Amino acid sequence: MDKLAINGGPKAKSAPYNQPNKYSGDERALLLEVLDSGKLMGPGGKVADFEADVCRAFHVKYAIMVTSGTAALQTTLVALGVSEGDEVITTPMTDFGTTSAILALHAIPVFADIDLSTRLLDPQKVREKITDKTRAIIAVHMAGMPCEMDAFLSIGEETGVKILEDCAQAHGATYRGQFVGSIGDAAGFSMNESKQISTGDGGFVTTNDDETAEIARLFRDKTYLRDPTLERGMQPIPFFGANLRATNLQAAIAIAQLRKLEALVARRDQIARRYIAELGDLPHLDFPKIADNAQPSWWPLAIRYTGTAPTRDELVAILRAEGIPINTSMSAVKNILHTEVIQKRKYYPLTDAIPTFWQNTTYEPDDCPNVDTLQATCLRLPVDERHMDEDIDQTIAAVKKVWTHYFL
Ligand SMILES: Cc1ncc(COP(=O)(O)O)c(C=O)c1O
Repeated sequence: MDKLAINGGPKAKSAPYNQPNKYSGDERALLLEVLDSGKLMGPGGKVADFEADVCRAFHVKYAIMVTSGTAALQTTLVALGVSEGDEVITTPMTDFGTTSAILALHAIPVFADIDLSTRLLDPQKVREKITDKTRAIIAVHMAGMPCEMDAFLSIGEETGVKILEDCAQAHGATYRGQFVGSIGDAAGFSMNESKQISTGDGGFVTTNDDETAEIARLFRDKTYLRDPTLERGMQPIPFFGANLRATNLQAAIAIAQLRKLEALVARRDQIARRYIAELGDLPHLDFPKIADNAQPSWWPLAIRYTGTAPTRDELVAILRAEGIPINTSMSAVKNILHTEVIQKRKYYPLTDAIPTFWQNTTYEPDDCPNVDTLQATCLRLPVDERHMDEDIDQTIAAVKKVWTHYFL
């Protein structure tokens, strides 16, 4: 057996992963079309074209393009009727954007734990958090793995609480044959650089509901009516709206990116299935449980190391020395419950004064122990559609080499 690289042996993966520029393709030609048109500003033009493409791709009635995933979630919450003091239940293991969207409305984020086996928001834990102030639930399809939507839809039907899907990491994933983003009352997608579809930054809302779409469209555009027959000066401004408009430049790139999505999801699935088939029987490794009849749009695969020696962090160093870019955290913040903004309810940067809407809420830092367990044990294997079979062969060989050394 080869000596471990961390002890001076040869690396299992010495060549870099194949990762060419993901914007090479139709992006350039479509961008030039926009420049040549002399019209960069949405919401018409390429923004409208992209929205129509999203409707076709994900089988939804409406898509509304905005500037980020956070903006998409905020717009969606507004459109579903969330207002100051309402409670919105979600997971503390997500990007801060999910929480930020709630707080931006002076609504109250309420955190429920994940199910350790699926890594996703646990519908039973959500039920326990419902009060008469609960207005919405944000089910986050983390790492491209669809949440157990039937359970959330049942909660919605029983309680009247709106079900919002956070699809920021799950473009093209399906649950019981339906695309995520077409299942709940509405959904928000991100198109920042790390996402399956990227415009650098960007996002969009999807919904099948006429009123939700109409409010979302107004909210993203200062509530302006884009009606050419309306005399200048006559905008009614029926309620507060922001400027979250995306440009036609972003939309041009988004159109090109969306064309690649189906192939991307299929290739990522091949890679993830190889890891599951070839590493699934190794001791001390726990693979995520996928909902029945669900097809993930995989991100780095979130496996858990359940052994004790070596420690998880020692294993990370050992695998990285072998040339494998192992990640450990499911998101930029391990557990949002532990952050200063939540623990101190510190809304504003220069004062510790707790705003009125948040004064009667408290947060127990240890309220979601499964999140802490997952984050302390997680090992994330690279899943990228651009990686070649050889990259995956070497990644699998590296894990097997390390496991043979310690456990077999
Ligand atoms: C699950 C999740 N929700 C929301 C967001 C926010 O998206 P954005 O960064 O585009 O605002 C992200 C982005 O990282 C995310 O991963």
